[in-house]
Parts: sequence; C-alpha cells; structure tokens
Amino acid sequence: MSWRVQPVFSHPLLSRLSAMLAARTGLHFPQERWGDLEKGIAAAAPMFGMPDAPSCARWLLGAPLTRNQIEVLAAHLTVGETYFFRDERCFEILEQHVLPERLQARANATRPLRIWSAGCCTGEEPYSIAMLLDRLLPHGADCGATILATDINPAFLRKAAQGVYGEWSFRATPAWLRERYFDPAKNSRFEIKRSVRQRVRFSCLNLADDSYPSLTNNTNAMDVIICRNVLMYFTVAQAKKVVENLRRSLVDGGWLIVSAAETSSSLFSRFAAVEFAGAVLYRKLAHTPLPAAPPPQPLAADAASAVVWRAAPPGPDRAEPQAGEAVVCEESAGATPLRTARVCANQGKLAEAAQWCEKAIAADRLDPASQYLLATIRLELGQSDAAAQSLLHVLYLDPDFVLAHFALGSVCLSQSRHREAWRHFDNALTLLHAHPYDEPLPASEGLTAGRLAEIIGSLRASLPPTTTEAQRT
Ligand SMILES: C[S@@+](CC[C@H](N)C(=O)[O-])C[C@H]1O[C@@H](n2cnc3c(N)ncnc32)[C@H](O)[C@@H]1O
Repeated sequence: MSWRVQPVFSHPLLSRLSAMLAARTGLHFPQERWGDLEKGIAAAAPMFGMPDAPSCARWLLGAPLTRNQIEVLAAHLTVGETYFFRDERCFEILEQHVLPERLQARANATRPLRIWSAGCCTGEEPYSIAMLLDRLLPHGADCGATILATDINPAFLRKAAQGVYGEWSFRATPAWLRERYFDPAKNSRFEIKRSVRQRVRFSCLNLADDSYPSLTNNTNAMDVIICRNVLMYFTVAQAKKVVENLRRSLVDGGWLIVSAAETSSSLFSRFAAVEFAGAVLYRKLAHTPLPAAPPPQPLAADAASAVVWRAAPPGPDRAEPQAGEAVVCEESAGATPLRTARVCANQGKLAEAAQWCEKAIAADRLDPASQYLLATIRLELGQSDAAAQSLLHVLYLDPDFVLAHFALGSVCLSQSRHREAWRHFDNALTLLHAHPYDEPLPASEGLTAGRLAEIIGSLRASLPPTTTEAQRT
C-alpha cells in the first residue's frame, strides 16, 4: 500500500514566491521559514478558489495580483500576536516621557497630537495608547489627540474595530485597567468603552507600499509612530525603505518606537537614538539641530530610569538638510511655492502650508494641484466648507481630477449628505476605471487607482442601508 505524499513545493517555486512576497508585502521568507510559507499558501488557496497549495503558488506567480489579493495573502502569512500593554517598559516611557513631551510641544499649536500605530494587528496596541492618553489628560480635557491604527490584514482590522477581546489579550494588563476601560460582553469577553474606542481610527495600509507620508491617507505630520514587531518580518531592504518612509511621516522631533528586538544603529542611522533605562527610542532629527535638550524630566514614579541622550550621529544628517526635504517652510533657491507648501504640510505646519498654497495659486491660477493641496490642508484644519469650495475649483479647472471627486464625497459623507456623497464617489469610480489598478494617481503621493477604488467601496458600504438606489437618484 502506498501513501499519497503531500505535494511539496519545489525549491525554485519557493524561491520565486519569497522574492515576490518580499517585493509586494515586504515580508521576509528565508529558506528556514519556507515551511511557514507553504502552510500559509495552503491556507490561502481556498480563498483564491485554488484546489491545492502548489497550484495556488503557481497561479500567484503568474497573475497580476490586485491589492486586495495581496492583502488576503498577507493575512495568511502574518503573525497576529499582540496584547494590551505588550512590553510594559515601552508604555511607561510613552506615558512618562514621550507623550508629555509631545503634548507640551503641541501646547501652542493649532493641530492635535497625532499618533500612528503601524502594524496594529487586532487593536490592542492603539487602544493601550488611547488608555494612556486618557490617564495623562486632565479629566474631561480634550487635547484633540488622534490615533491612526493601520495594518495590512483586513481581518485583524475588523476585529480591532469591534473592540471585543478575550482573556488572552489581557495577559499583561492590571485588573483595574480592565475594569476602568472595558465593559463585560458575551461569552466572558470584554468590550472597550466608547470613549477610548473613538480616539482610534483604523485603516488598511501596506507598509511596503510607497503610499505614505500623505495627507490623503492621514499619514503625514505624526508626533509619534509606534511600529513594533513588524519590521522583524521584513527583508533588510524593505525594512530600510519602510523606516525612511516612516521618518518622513514624522514631524521634526517626532518619535519612532520599535520593539527591543528591532533596534539597530544602521537601520535607524538617520534618527537620534535616545536611550532610556531598558529601551532605545528613535527621534527624527530636526533640519536645524535639535536644541541641546535636557533629558525629559522623569516623573517621580520613574526616578530609577535615568535618561541618557546619546549624541546624534555625526555626519551630514545633523548639519545639512535631508534629501528630498531641502525646503523648510521658507523660500529657497529652486523650491517652488507648491513644493514648499507640501513640505510644510507634511511637517504639520498647516497655516504656513496654506499661505504657500495661496502663493502658488497666485503664480498660476490654472494649476489644479495647488488648489487641491489647499483643499486638503483646509480639510485638516477642519474648514470643510472652504475645502469644498477649493475642491469645486479644482474640478472647474480639471473635471477629471479624481482625488477631488473623492474628497468632495468624503466631505459630504462627514456632513451626512449621503446622496451627494454617492454622486461624487460614483464620479470618482467612473474615472478610476480608466486607470490600471496599480497606477499611482496624480497628486496622491503614491495612492494607486485600485486602492482608491477599494477605499471608496468600503466607504460606500459604510453608508446607512437606507441610502438606496432610489434615494441616490
Ligand atoms: C506581531 S504583530 C505586531 C502587533 C503589534 N504592533 C504589537 O507589537 O503587539 C505584526 C503585525 O504586522 C502586520 N504586518 C505585517 N506586514 C505588514 C505590512 N506589509 N504592512 C502593514 N502591516 C503589516 C501584521 O498583519 C500583524 O498584524
């Protein structure tokens, strides 16, 4: 009697698969992890309608994969391990140094504190930060802090948005925290309170894509980015690219937090490494050198954790402007007003950015790009009516400016004008059909046509069911 041996992937097939995955998702599958790769592909095969893992692997290599398919694949190949307050020391440093420092830096600013949990998994990490913020702020005070939480895996994000967790997610959480921020739910589970949940906005984002920093997906001008236990699964080349993009997403002086296992002087060489007892955090170097800052004052409870500021690495980073960002909100040779406006906006200097946009518009009244940037800045400043005016102006100048249709739809959605929102989204989708799936859209800083179509699809799905076809027309 002969047993049918499970089909095994060939060496060249695995090698090509891991190269494709590295390029499209950043995920690293060296030979010693090929077993995991085979298991992941086998689990994903039914989702793609494939009879078995080897046929699925061959199809994956032959097909021009859509963003959606890449996400399905990544969902089966990524590790979803996380829990509330994972790495207690990291959260102590956030609570005692990083967040107070950023809140102080923001004290006179017009815009809220912005935090991004990149690779947030099922939401325990961003919700832990939201709980910290609640404890840091005087009762009832609204500092307008926002938390963006992104992941490549839509299934994780759906669970995160539900905010219902079992015991295992609380393995490092003191009981009092659970009592304060959760309500008991069915089946011995716990549901996060609305006040914490509403600080966090979840969104699907593949860190291996060049879609950030961007005003379009809200990934610009971050004060703090926490990206822990994510880079370790990437190839070195992809990790370098991701770290550089994350750096560009930070404001000057902003903080990047990775896990202890991911610290590296070469990977983070463009940051200042800030040593705390038991942890190293990274800080974005300012264009002009950071003031010789005294260490953040440890709070009484943290007297033991002396903070050591390591000198920023010598070399061009410290003294010279950084590549691609030579303009720092002031006119300099070769910088156009529009480009200066973009740099200011990415730095979170929105009022200055708007002024530079006005200059760009004055210089060329027929350029829709300047009007569009002004619209996105106005949106971020909460001036939705003025933003809508600018967007209409963009469409007057260029009726095919797809991002303007999309942004107008979003404005209408936020004002519960659902019928108009549908109309603008429909217009955007019609225009998007003329673009190849992976084509980056003009003025989008890397957002592709296919991805925007997916975003619009999920926004339309979020409209109330009463928004029927009849109401739309
Ligand atoms: C081990 S979890 C870490 C969760 C959390 N940051 C923590 O430390 O507890 C890794 C997460 O990274 C996400 N991830 C992996 N590759 C990604 C990519 N290319 N873009 C975005 N997220 C990714 C996975 O889906 C997973 O949720």
